Amino acid sequence: MSVGFRIASSDEMLRETAALACEIWHECFTDIISEGQIDYMVEKFQSYEAMKGQISSQGYVYHDVFCDGKLCGYFAVKAESDDRFFLSKLYLHKDSRGKGIASQMLAKVFTEARNAGKKKVYLTVNKHNDHAIEVYRKTGFVTADAVVTDIGGGYVMDDYIMEYNL
Ligand SMILES: CC(C)(COP(=O)(O)OP(=O)(O)OC[C@H]1O[C@@H](n2cnc3c(N)ncnc32)[C@H](O)[C@@H]1OP(=O)(O)O)[C@@H](O)C(=O)NCCC(=O)NCCS
Repeated sequence: MSVGFRIASSDEMLRETAALACEIWHECFTDIISEGQIDYMVEKFQSYEAMKGQISSQGYVYHDVFCDGKLCGYFAVKAESDDRFFLSKLYLHKDSRGKGIASQMLAKVFTEARNAGKKKVYLTVNKHNDHAIEVYRKTGFVTADAVVTDIGGGYVMDDYIMEYNL
């Protein structure tokens, strides 16, 4: 299996990423948050319009992941103004999990962070997202803090903050 990466730079690419995000989020979060919160968060954070705004005005970069030429996942990163690199999203379609692709994605994140001159990668992960937490721990991330973020609409994100020293 070949794995490739491409920055989602055009509107067409970003629309494909948004469609994949919608599919993955509705599959992977059903045991963790309500369907209403998934709909709300997809619209607020992962719709085409939302991602376009994150890229144009907040410094986010979306990377698409291809497995044997087919779009199978994505991650989003952002260089902070200090020594940190934010891993904002890390998502794989369920058919592409458990195949070593996540480790390649994380290696790519670390390369991007080093190239940006950063010392640390951090992320937020839902406290009940057990598998993702295990993956991050196995990779060398440690839990640094916990945070509850009000995202509007009557919803909160109940997360751990995890960090990786480069
Ligand atoms: C999070 C996600 C990208 C991880 O991808 P994945 O394909 O499931 O990850 P893998 O099973 O390949 O595991 C990655 C590594 O962690 C290891 N790992 C997995 N579960 C582990 C566990 N319970 N204990 C120790 N190591 C574990 C694997 O062995 C693998 O290491 P390797 O590549 O060196 O063999 C994927 O599960 C996903 O998209 N989930 C839904 C969305 C999500 O929750 N994203 C995170 C939001 S913060």
